[in-house]
Amino acid sequence: MSTLRTRVLGAGYARLARPVLYRLDPEVAHHGTIRAVRLLGSTALTRAGTARLLGPGAPADGSSEVEVLGMGFRHRLGLAAGMDKDGTALAAWGPLGFGHVELGTVTALPQPGNPRPRMVRLPRSGALINRMGFNNEGVHALAGRLRAARARGLVDIPVGVSIGKSKATPVQRAVEDYVTSVRAVGDVADYLAVNVSSPNTPGLRSLQDAGPLRELLSAVVAEADRTPVLLKLAPDLGDPAVDEALGVALDTGVRGVIATNTTVSRAGVHPTERHTAEQSGGLSGAPLAPRSLEVVRRVADGAGLPVIGVGGIMTSDDAARMLDAGAALVQVYTGLVYAGPALVRQVAAL
Ligand code: FNR
Repeated sequence: MSTLRTRVLGAGYARLARPVLYRLDPEVAHHGTIRAVRLLGSTALTRAGTARLLGPGAPADGSSEVEVLGMGFRHRLGLAAGMDKDGTALAAWGPLGFGHVELGTVTALPQPGNPRPRMVRLPRSGALINRMGFNNEGVHALAGRLRAARARGLVDIPVGVSIGKSKATPVQRAVEDYVTSVRAVGDVADYLAVNVSSPNTPGLRSLQDAGPLRELLSAVVAEADRTPVLLKLAPDLGDPAVDEALGVALDTGVRGVIATNTTVSRAGVHPTERHTAEQSGGLSGAPLAPRSLEVVRRVADGAGLPVIGVGGIMTSDDAARMLDAGAALVQVYTGLVYAGPALVRQVAAL
């Protein structure tokens, strides 16, 4: 029954919802989807109905439950950062079947992000390119929303918050900027993800170098107090740079690693989409899978820290490969755009 429902959902999304969404500009489709998802989470009735119809899909005997970072997760799949940046739909992700959600990336200051268009689909490649540039309402708006949702009992899964640097803040003052965000949201998040790996904020990725990274992570971990801090890495770091970042993470008390963010590489893009792929921005989806998997394996083997594997999970087999490579949890973004909510049920059932 449950498998049948997953198949119907998958086919329904592919035949009905996806063709409509694909006629729209990708960002318009995205905002429409978030508005619809927000409605699903808006009342006890819609939440219950959503959970019943789309539901967790995890085994009823609880065999998919795991403990990571000292927290219980009903299964290993979560929603990756960037989909619900401002947490406007935060009450719906649990009923929709996710085991956790990472909100953000938010910045200390609200900001509009880059000019549109800033997101493009590469359907033949199973990929997206985005150069959103951390468009968000600011950390204080998200913190207020998350606090209110918790007070109303609407948060039923672990909620991580991804923090990044405000564009207006020079990279030399990045530490202060991140610490402002930690102060605002640290006590209401289940974990914090330090995003130094987006390709769309000039200078941001230089914070992955050992010196600046050490200074940043020490300050964030100290301010976060008991809230676990995770580090999100770019797939474009070479292996020695990954090892170096891990060393810093271990030294500074970081509790986990998220691997990986989007890539500036265009390897693996379908030949007919190479021209589109010349646009600037971070590539996500299927072409990213091999490098994300490598980084996950390297971190899992080397660091002794839990890893959240993300990048190119388009099917439950892809998720299984990430878990085999040593990921403790996995996340999806682009796979959800291409496969719809059935993917959540498939991976949750692993
Ligand atoms: C992202 N991603 C992202 N990551 C992050 O840490 N903060 C963010 O704000 C965003 N924003 C964002 C927007 C869009 C449109 C996309 C497609 C992606 C990256 C995302 O969380 C993930 O790391 C990558 O997309 C790789 O996973 P998938 O998409 O291949 O499953």
